[in-house]
Amino acid sequence: MLDRFNRKINYLRISVTDRCNLRCTYCVPTGQFKWLPHSQILTFEEITEVIKVAVELGIEKVRLTGGEPLVRKDITELVRMIAGVEGITDLAMTTNGMLLEKFARLLKEAGLMRINVSLDSTDPSRFAEITRGGDLNKVLRGIDAALEAGLHPVKLNCVVVHSRYEPDALRVAEYAASKRLEVRFIHQMNLSEGYFTTVEGGEGGNCSICSRLRLTADGLIKPCLFSNIGFDIRKMGVREALMTAVARKPASGTVNQANNFYNIGG
Ligand code: 5AD
Ligand code: SF4
Repeated sequence: MLDRFNRKINYLRISVTDRCNLRCTYCVPTGQFKWLPHSQILTFEEITEVIKVAVELGIEKVRLTGGEPLVRKDITELVRMIAGVEGITDLAMTTNGMLLEKFARLLKEAGLMRINVSLDSTDPSRFAEITRGGDLNKVLRGIDAALEAGLHPVKLNCVVVHSRYEPDALRVAEYAASKRLEVRFIHQMNLSEGYFTTVEGGEGGNCSICSRLRLTADGLIKPCLFSNIGFDIRKMGVREALMTAVARKPASGTVNQANNFYNIGG
């Protein structure tokens, strides 16, 4: 699929749940917020149907995000269903790693190809502070398990406030070098204020080459992370929602007041 600006759209990011087992300060709002009710969350069959139609329309790469994808019940079954769709050349996941030690091998066996693990600090107390209670050692064991399972490559996502040279980011870089892992440094963004920049070491945030569509856990196809628009697969039908999203994909991002990171998956 080509959009109005001649960008090739071949990448679909799927938020499989809005729930998460961490509460990162930059991601989860502090005030009152509601999880989506279960009735609104797409079933595995619905997600797989979206992927089948998307692949017919030219999607080749799929990434599962959240919330935290590994808290979705029977996630390995979903991976298996998606891996069975012919035409997908890249099947990846972004996880916080808290449950990865348990899941790495099962994910690999189910057909996941590679994985990105969020890691903002390798200092246990800083990690706990940023994630509001996360256990660094669990994540590090998860990374090792992913490497052992052959999920290749394992990449790290490190959210930075100012630059990749701030203390937490430098430690992450050092750890990554010791394990020969690639890191992408993602500047902390603000959806409602429309603040975003390009990802260092990645393709995100570069509007002129953006190849992405997103599917939210409750069934909206969103053409842009920094836009309010979304098209409901249950109301419009899958094909129509996908085609409309591509047709309406904006030239560049502006603001998104309709979503939070925890429910669109970054
Ligand atoms: N800015 C940038 N990235 C964010 N993420 C969550 N909140 C933000 C934010 N405010 C990203 C993190 C994490 C992924 C799930 O979402 O990179 O790895
Ligand atoms: Fe693509 Fe929108 Fe992100 Fe820009 S802001 S890179 S158009 S998803």
